[in-house]
Amino acid sequence: MGASSGTAEFDAIAPGYDESRGGTARAAGFAGQLAPLLDPALPVLDIGVGTGIVAAELAARGHRVHGLDLSPGMLARARARLGDRVAVADAGRLPVRDGVVGQAVSTWLLHAGPDRRAVFSEVARVLRPGGRWLVIPAGGVRPSDDIGRLVDALEDRLDPERTRRDDPETLAPVAASNGLVLEGTASQRPTTFRVTPRSMAASLARGLFTGAWPVTGPAAERLLAETRERLLALPDPDRPRVREAADFVMVFRKES
Ligand SMILES: C[S@@+](CC[C@H](N)C(=O)[O-])C[C@H]1O[C@@H](n2cnc3c(N)ncnc32)[C@H](O)[C@@H]1O
Repeated sequence: MGASSGTAEFDAIAPGYDESRGGTARAAGFAGQLAPLLDPALPVLDIGVGTGIVAAELAARGHRVHGLDLSPGMLARARARLGDRVAVADAGRLPVRDGVVGQAVSTWLLHAGPDRRAVFSEVARVLRPGGRWLVIPAGGVRPSDDIGRLVDALEDRLDPERTRRDDPETLAPVAASNGLVLEGTASQRPTTFRVTPRSMAASLARGLFTGAWPVTGPAAERLLAETRERLLALPDPDRPRVREAADFVMVFRKES
């Protein structure tokens, strides 16, 4: 499966996006993880700003945030929050001059299908030497419960080249070949959420990540159907699993 930016899918899910992704509690949690790693004296570029829900929480903590996103539907919501500090742009073709960005953030961007080599290369181009890009991956520390094992296996089979994985092991070499160094990870924050196998099976009907990763083609659709059947065959498919995960920040730095 090739990487593609899921703009149409994000336009479609924009109206319910915030509430279906943990609302302001998630955004405040992410802002709380990012803020201690940011220089309050410098503006922040949020790449893949989406509806601006995380950016608004950073702004509420005193940061001057600018945002870019490829989906006009998501960005319309960000504009309501951040005004003209946002613009439609592809993270793989940033409308920004070389070496002028002191710090950037991206939350839940790299799993969404952009051409990640282009994104890393562009971030390296626009960062000033020593500038940092803080990335909160969608995968985080993944739940290893019975639902998690099935969904993980599905992702591995749909994406054997790991073009959607946004973990440090997968991304460090991509960063290095584009002039960014993975300094490490920081600000780990445990989260728990409750999901039944049946509701996970239903949300897989539209693809992964509730439609942000559309699954097309007979082979992929077969894998999806198989996973849904396996989810429904788990013991007590209507019993919510209390799922343990953790979010963390990957810190990339442009070499000086
Ligand atoms: C899962 S959402 C996350 C949005 C926001 N950062 C948040 O945490 O709520 C992923 C966002 O990445 C955007 N996106 C996907 N591919 C992109 C690209 N190539 N350039 C810019 N934005 C992109 C989508 O439009 C979407 O708004």
